Amino acid sequence: MLHKLSTFAGVSGPVVVIIMDGYGIASNKAGSAIDAATKPTLDRLFAQFPHIRLRAHGTAVGMPSDEDMGNSEVGHNAIGAGQVYSQGAALVANAIADGSIWQGNAWQEIVAGAKAGAHGKPGTLHFIGLFSDGNVHSHIDHLRALVVQAKAEGINTVRIHALLDGRDVPETSALDYIVPFEAFLQALSTDGFDARIASGGGRQTITMDRYDANWPMVARGWRTHVLGEGPQFANATAAVIGLREMHPGTIDQDLPEFVIAEFEENGHGKPIGTIEDGDAVVLFNFRGDRALEITRSFVDDDFSHFDRVRRPDVSYAGMLQYDGDLQLPKRFLVSPPAIKDTSGEWFSKSGLAQFACSETQKFGHVTYFWNGNRSGKFEGETWQEVPSDLVPFEQRPWMKAAEITDAMIAALQSGKYQVLRCNYANGDMVGHTGNFRAATMAIEAVDLALSRLLPAIDAAGGVALITADHGNADEMFELDKKTRQPTQNENGSFKAKTAHTLNPVPLILYDTVSGGKLGLQQTDSAGLSNIAATVANLLGLQKHDKWDDSVLQIK
Ligand code: 3PG
Ligand code: CO
Repeated sequence: MLHKLSTFAGVSGPVVVIIMDGYGIASNKAGSAIDAATKPTLDRLFAQFPHIRLRAHGTAVGMPSDEDMGNSEVGHNAIGAGQVYSQGAALVANAIADGSIWQGNAWQEIVAGAKAGAHGKPGTLHFIGLFSDGNVHSHIDHLRALVVQAKAEGINTVRIHALLDGRDVPETSALDYIVPFEAFLQALSTDGFDARIASGGGRQTITMDRYDANWPMVARGWRTHVLGEGPQFANATAAVIGLREMHPGTIDQDLPEFVIAEFEENGHGKPIGTIEDGDAVVLFNFRGDRALEITRSFVDDDFSHFDRVRRPDVSYAGMLQYDGDLQLPKRFLVSPPAIKDTSGEWFSKSGLAQFACSETQKFGHVTYFWNGNRSGKFEGETWQEVPSDLVPFEQRPWMKAAEITDAMIAALQSGKYQVLRCNYANGDMVGHTGNFRAATMAIEAVDLALSRLLPAIDAAGGVALITADHGNADEMFELDKKTRQPTQNENGSFKAKTAHTLNPVPLILYDTVSGGKLGLQQTDSAGLSNIAATVANLLGLQKHDKWDDSVLQIK
């Protein structure tokens, strides 16, 4: 149980945490879809209620450096846990730097599995993952280290299945990664070692679905990587150039799949890296949400999400274990952060009923990430998922903001819950499309949702903390690193930015019940991990010892 505060009995109604995903505070209004949006409710909140800025990137959320933008995993972990843990990006980088990754059983079993092979032939070692230095799901430097070590261990053949990013990095940057990497692989391919990119495609087209939103995407990835089905090219550089010519205007994340083949004189192409019995497969993404479905496709005996046609008998490892409760996968190269004593757990132990809601695209963010990457519920928790549309979100920028609001209002009216949380995906999911106009509409949809939700909080006698997990829609154009002005294309248009930002996020205290007794304290280090303790204080409870401090002022 959390102890009672001696100074404040808590608000009489519920405490609601509202995450406006991808809503940062812009450093330059030019290029900010948030500043361009018409948002009377948010304007009123900023004008009339206490608000501060929170750090939501870099070391404040457990990333290796302050050059690293925030993301939903580390952001929701920090908000839910009230603590900052070294996250996957840092843990993997450290395990490579000190060599401990190579000493672990998992890596040794992968090497042994590939060497043993099947039917008297050594196997191939495959690496599948997101091919960029975004450091959200993966980092290409980790892949580079894996390939170098594979050669040192005496593996003969390495094949890479490269998911093109353009979502955590500039939208058409694929060749900036592919060209040098193919050169690196070629230079390393001496003395009987042969390493090449064998297949790939845009990360929003194949393999990296999340939260069971779109299994056909994963099926398409399986056919590409495992079965070697898809448009054929001689190498990955040619594939990206060729696909861009075939699909003008398509940004990297949306490019279709490709397969690398060796061509006979008659033009017939044989894929160079299908996945076969006796091979070993490492998924080099460290983040779990978009890694679970493809992992299941390899490891589940009982599997009905799509027809695998054939399931090769491989040694499989994840870079991390993506779900500790489900033990997915059983073999992993680096241990994930052991996130303990989250707010969900301690509010539950304190007898509070909690309600969590979002649409599919962010559902795991307010449940699984919030609770420290656990897929199970704590006692007294109720979760409600609103199914997301299966469309490019620039076509429906309002997404499910209205339906999430309906669910939240009903939960408030039920009177059953003392702590509620929701995530509006709009600013982030539409921000990732790079479509400025749609992103302004996304923010307007959230503003409209708030205009409905806040009166329901008033009616319940509650308060709200309105915040975000990281920025995105606040920077829809690439800004020059020095001048912070939007950079332009040759034709004078601005360069669209699809990635998250390094900007701080707001924390607004919506309080119409305390009569001005409550405020928020701005400190230099205030960050997302201060929210859990703030919620506890609003409930009249002391924070857990492990949580970072509350920023609530009690006057
Ligand atoms: C994604 O997975 O969509 C992006 O890489 C990161 O976005 P998120 O951290 O907001 O989910
Ligand atoms: Co995002």
